[in-house]
Amino acid sequence: MLSLVYVSTMARPVTDEELAEILVIAREKNLQLGITGILAHQGSNCLGIIEGDDDVVRERFAGIRQDPRHINVREVAVDHISARAFPEWSMAFQSADPLIKDIPGFLDLFTDHPDPVPGGGSTSRAKALLEWFRKHPLAPLTDQGVGDAIEPRLHIISAAIMVLHDVGVERADMDQIADTAGISVDALRQHFPTRQSLLTATVDRWSSTLSRPLLPIAEQYGAVAYLHALIVAYSEEPALMRLLASTLAASSDPANEGAEYYRTLYLRFRQTIRTALEHDIRTGREPNTMEPARATEQLLALYDGLRVQALLVPGFDIIEAFDRAASRMRRGWSEDYRRTDLFEIPLDRTREHTARPDLFGSQ
Ligand SMILES: Cc1cc2nc3c(=O)[nH]c(=O)nc-3n(C[C@H](O)[C@H](O)[C@H](O)COP(=O)(O)O)c2cc1C
Repeated sequence: MLSLVYVSTMARPVTDEELAEILVIAREKNLQLGITGILAHQGSNCLGIIEGDDDVVRERFAGIRQDPRHINVREVAVDHISARAFPEWSMAFQSADPLIKDIPGFLDLFTDHPDPVPGGGSTSRAKALLEWFRKHPLAPLTDQGVGDAIEPRLHIISAAIMVLHDVGVERADMDQIADTAGISVDALRQHFPTRQSLLTATVDRWSSTLSRPLLPIAEQYGAVAYLHALIVAYSEEPALMRLLASTLAASSDPANEGAEYYRTLYLRFRQTIRTALEHDIRTGREPNTMEPARATEQLLALYDGLRVQALLVPGFDIIEAFDRAASRMRRGWSEDYRRTDLFEIPLDRTREHTARPDLFGSQ
């Protein structure tokens, strides 16, 4: 069986009735053909997933492609699958009309509930892409030449996010990104001459899309709550976590064109945490025995360190780990700093100890 994910743009603004018509007709046809999946529509963007027998999926996609109601139709992921990720075919869009919700196959994807995607929590590339679309439906995936001209750089960055999401940073290349954006590699290079420059812009856009809406938490609930919210958000975007980790090496290399930019970005983030901690002390949320500069170092050591572990340790529960460690850390801030006696061990004795292989009683 084949799972095919595509994105497209509606050729003109569509009414709820027109969307409902696509829902009813496509559902009927897909049912006959044994095709399951989803069509999600938001703004003028569509993300469609169809899964079923290889030939049937290919043929139906060829038909959908020709539909004049949408343009810029692009395949973003095709996978051979042994089991379906979706139990039926449904369609999701936002509608002011409450009756729309009663149409069989209508899916309420864009309102907030924990697991709106049908078929349980199974992970597949198709589902990961759908989840991304659900969270950022208005990101301009393909809107070339429709309505207001979308800034071309933004359009390319959105394509890069799709590709990074799909194949990861190591395998994302300029050809595939240009292809997803529907432009030539030369046209892509006019905006982003190198892969590095595109990655830099993508990190910025992707991480700010995720973190900016959470910023009010810093003021309302404090720095620790803000970092917790960021950990939750990043844990749902492993592709972004990997991208950020891969930029770390780049940002420590002065010869790298993105280095200065990444450093600025990181220092800005660090300053945000410090400012939030200063505010926390002023409002009495955190104790004044805590030095904001030190607490920033400690919180970021935890936050960055846990993100590395989440990348490398299978099954690592980063949210639980952050919550426990940050709660203990906060309690420590209420006490005056006292250097532990453990650091008073003479260094030559330490060396002697580390030379012994059975230091911890095991070989
Ligand atoms: C964005 C979009 C997605 C569509 N998805 C499907 C689909 O999954 N299955 C389907 O049968 N028709 C889908 N349609 C409708 C088809 O393009 C087509 O109009 C309809 O199936 C009738 O096809 P026919 O003219 O080949 O019989 C979609 C249309 C649009 C605009």
